[in-house]
This record gives sequence, C-alpha cells and structure tokens, in this order.
Amino acid sequence: MKNILVTGGAGFIGSNFVKLLINKDPGCHIVVLDKLTYAGNLKNLEDVHQKSNFKFYKGNICNSEFVHYIINKEKIDTIINFAAESHVDRSILSSHEFINTNVVGTNVLLEAARNFQLSKFVQISTDEVYGSLGKEGQFSESTPLSPNSPYSSSKASADLLVRAYNHTYEVPTLITRCSNNYGPYQFPEKLIPLMIINALNNKSLPIYGDGMNIRDWIFVEDHCEAILEVATRGKIGEVYNIGANTEKPNIEIVKLILKELGKDESLISYVKDRPGHDRRYAIDSSKIEKELGWKPKHNFENAIQKTIEWYLSNKKWWEEIISGDYQSYYKQWYIER
Ligand code: NAD
Ligand code: TYD
Repeated sequence: MKNILVTGGAGFIGSNFVKLLINKDPGCHIVVLDKLTYAGNLKNLEDVHQKSNFKFYKGNICNSEFVHYIINKEKIDTIINFAAESHVDRSILSSHEFINTNVVGTNVLLEAARNFQLSKFVQISTDEVYGSLGKEGQFSESTPLSPNSPYSSSKASADLLVRAYNHTYEVPTLITRCSNNYGPYQFPEKLIPLMIINALNNKSLPIYGDGMNIRDWIFVEDHCEAILEVATRGKIGEVYNIGANTEKPNIEIVKLILKELGKDESLISYVKDRPGHDRRYAIDSSKIEKELGWKPKHNFENAIQKTIEWYLSNKKWWEEIISGDYQSYYKQWYIER
C-alpha cells in the first residue's frame, strides 16, 4: 500500500483511520474522496490537512469519471471504502441515498479497481448485515447474511458485489464487518454522542422500546487498527469480523453516561420503538485475532470516559452540527416519539 484512496475519510471512522495511518506509515500517500454530506466534516481532518502526504477531494463515489480521474492523477493502488450513508433511522425515513451511495457507489469503486487493476480493495462493512440474534450466540464470518433495515440491506448488497468482483474478475478484495463504534468525532445522531449531548443540554434522552436492545461496542481506534491489519496482511478474498466482546443493553449505557456527567435519570424518556429494531448484536472476532494477531487495546470503562471527555472539550465541534440541518432531522424523527 503506497497511494491509498480513503473514501468517506471526512466521516467518523474514516477520519480516525486517516489520522492513525498517517502516524503509523508516514511514507504512504493518503487521498480522501468525500462528498461532505451532513455527516462529513472537514474539521475532522484538521490535524492532517497541512501534511504533504495528504490530499482531499470533494466528490461523490458514484461519479465514475471523477473516481477514474483521481486514481490516474494520484496513482492510486489501494481503495479503502468507508463512504456510506450510515444511520439506520435515516434509512427508515428514506432509503434512496442508501442505495445510491452504499450499493451503486461501491459498484463504481469496484469497477474502477477492476479497470485499473488496483492491488487492493477493502470494503468497510458492518455486523448489521448478519441480522439480529436471540439471547445466545455470536455472528461469525459464516453466519448467513440476513439484514433487516434498509441501511443493513444496502451494506449487505455491497458486500455481495465485493464478493462477486473477487470471484468473477479476481479483484483483490477484503471485507471487514465491525460492531458498533464509539469515540471522538462521531456524528451526534448515533446513540452515545446523542445521549451525551442531550444530557449536557438537559434535554430528554429518547430510549427506543424497553431499552434492552443489545449492541456490542468497540472504541473507534481499535476498529481502525484492525482495518489497518486487514488492509496490510489480510488474506485476499476473505471477510474479517471485528469486535471487542462488549455487549451492553442500551439503557445501561445511557445510565452510565448520566452518572459520568452527574445528571439525573429523570432525563430518560422511553419512546416509541424503531420499526424492525434488531434486538441483539454480538460478534465473534476470533478469526482476525488468530490469523492477524489483532486484539482490541481499550476497555469500555476507560474508553467511554475518554469519549465523554472528548465531547466535553469539543463543544464547538458539536454545537455547530446540532445548530444546523440536524434540528430538522431531529424534529422529523423524534417528534412523534
Ligand atoms: P459517517 O456517516 O460518520 O461517515 C460517512 C462519510 O461518508 C461522511 O464523511 C460522508 O460525507 C461520506 N459520504 C457519504 N456518501 C458519500 C458519497 N456518495 N461519496 C463520497 N463520500 C460520501 O459513517 P461512519 O460511522 O464513519 O461509518 C463509516 C463506515 O463504517 C460505513 O461504511 C459504515 O457502514 C461502517 N461501519 C460503521 C459502524 C459504526 O458504528 N459507525 C460500525 C461498523 C461499520
Ligand atoms: P445507533 O447508534 O443508531 O446504532 P445502530 O442502530 O446502527 O446499532 O443505535 C444504537 C442502539 O441505540 C440501537 O439499539 C438503537 C438505540 N437508540 C435509542 O434507543 N435511542 C436513540 O435516540 C438512538 C439514536 C438509538
């Protein structure tokens, strides 16, 4: 990997990954292509913007001409595709952009990887493609895909295209499927930052259903380190699950956030459930641990504290976000709840 195209690099995980990569491998040339949707933010990349081995292009992964131009100009050899519409609730409101970016966009990138004979194509996927679990068990890489939301079905569709491009055209692909991330720069529509910010603003904390849905949490830096391992040493054609064995019911997380911030549990409000709400995710990441020697370095108790501190020290970052279009989304999604 020398000249790497990171799509969606101005989002939450992509920007954390770019910063990790630039520190770990100062010899590589990193090119970010990002449409700067509501979730993309150049401020997430402020630390690296001036670096000579970093370049940013604003654009859409669905625009094949532009993708080809960048690959040619920057002599790209590797694509790591983070670009996506990423929020389940928004996919329930409207799935159109999820199909465009997550499915059509991934296909455009795969075609480019095929035509330019790139040396690697890494697809950043999610454990949500496996569907929902009962009380027992974990998702392994061989669990059948059974996505339940428009978001997860668009990601599963992309994974199938990646598989097909490897099988049919021998595009050297890899897929990572990670559990729920948390950490600095996460857009405040997702559970953890939304609850931190609402609590700080003494607004109610909307918990869907009974609050007993379970997610398996991983600190974003651990996810990014795993992606780097897969991108450099993963076996071509393979899928790697990534997780940190940290299952928590939503209500437990929300109560912990309130406790850390010294706020009262009376801020909690149980609201109408998300339609089709997956009950439980849990990921078995023994394959990446055995084959690539990766392990998460952070435990939940320390990393959630670090995350809360980041939101406390970066008020300006999130205040700008929640004062904009976010308000109309918030009203639309939460008002009837
Ligand atoms: P995010 O919403 O924070 O960032 C997505 C980025 O993609 C934004 O910068 C956005 O501007 C950009 N983008 C969207 N459409 C684009 C397009 N058509 N062309 C170019 N850029 C476009 O998302 P995230 O949480 O950082 O997730 C990144 C990836 O990781 C996604 O593929 C997501 O499915 C996957 N993932 C996320 C999680 C999680 O917990 N957040 C867990 C597992 C996997
Ligand atoms: P989210 O961060 O949207 O991630 P995902 O749906 O991709 O797992 O939600 C995490 C969990 O928190 C999920 O079970 C839905 C729940 N949730 C709430 O209860 N209230 C909220 O306002 C949000 C955004 C999520």
